[in-house]
Amino acid sequence: MSVVEVWWGRVGDARPELAEDLNAVERGRLAAYARDGDKARFLVGCAIVRRVLGVQLLMPPASVRLDRSCPDCGRPHGKVRAPGVELSVSHSGELVGVAFHPGVAVGLDVEVVDPGIDTDALGSVSLADVEVEELGRYDGTGRARAFTTYWARKEAVVKATGDGIRADLRKVVVSPPDQDARLVEWAGYDGTVRLVDLEVGSRHAAALAALTETELTVHSIDAGPLLAH
Ligand SMILES: CC(C)(COP(=O)(O)OP(=O)(O)OC[C@H]1O[C@@H](n2cnc3c(N)ncnc32)[C@H](O)[C@@H]1OP(=O)(O)O)[C@@H](O)C(=O)NCCC(=O)NCCS
Ligand SMILES: [Zn+2]
Repeated sequence: MSVVEVWWGRVGDARPELAEDLNAVERGRLAAYARDGDKARFLVGCAIVRRVLGVQLLMPPASVRLDRSCPDCGRPHGKVRAPGVELSVSHSGELVGVAFHPGVAVGLDVEVVDPGIDTDALGSVSLADVEVEELGRYDGTGRARAFTTYWARKEAVVKATGDGIRADLRKVVVSPPDQDARLVEWAGYDGTVRLVDLEVGSRHAAALAALTETELTVHSIDAGPLLAH
C-alpha cells in the first residue's frame, strides 16, 4: 500500500507574509501574475510545498531548495522538484492542492467545474472517440462535470509522468466518469499508473495519479492551520 499525502489550501489562505519564504524566481513569477486569484493560488501552492517540506526536512521553509526548471526551455515553470520526495501541485478556483510521496512519481489535478464550459470544443482536442460517445449520455451541468472528471483524470496521469499537455490527451484513455478512475490505455506508454478521484465537493473535480503497481491510499490534509501563522 502506497500512502500519498495531499495537502489542500484555499485562495483565502493567501496572505502577504507567505511570500517572505519565496525565492527570487518565485517572487518574480508571483509579481508577473496579473490577476489576484492567480497570484493567490500560486502563492498558496508555493507556501504549502515549502512549509510541508520544511517540517519534513527540519529546516525553515525559505531554505528548502526547489527546482522548477522546464526540461524543454530551462525556464522556471516546470514540474516542481525537490530531493528525496515526489510532488505535484495543482490549483483551480478556490482550491490549491499539493501531493507528496517519498519515492513514487505523482500527478495531481484539480479543476473547477464550469457549467458554461464548451465540452464539444474541448472534447474534440482531449477525448478519445469512446469518451466523446460516453459524454453524449450527459446533459447540462452533468455533462460539464463528466467532462471535467475526464480532464482531471487525464491531466493527473500526464502530470505524474511529467509530460503535461505536451501529451495528446485523446490518447490517454480513462474509465467513464461514473466508474472508478482507471487508465484504460495510453498508446506508447508501457508503465503502470494508479489513478483515483479525490472528493473535493461539487464545485471542483480532482484526480491523483501515481506511477506504481501498488494500491494507493490518499491522506487528504487541510493546509489551513499550516498556512495560518
Ligand atoms: C502542467 C500543466 C498540465 C498544468 O495544467 P493546469 O491545469 O493549467 O495547472 P495546474 O494548476 O493543475 O498545474 C500547475 C502546476 O503544474 C506543475 N507543472 C508544470 N509543468 C509540469 C509538467 N510538465 N508535469 C507535471 N507538472 C507540471 C507546476 O508545479 C505547476 O505549479 P506552479 O504554479 O507552482 O508552478 C500544463 O500547464 C502543462 O502541461 N504545461 C507544460 C506544457 C509545456 O510543455 N510547455 C513547454 C513550455 S516551454
Ligand atoms: Zn518551458
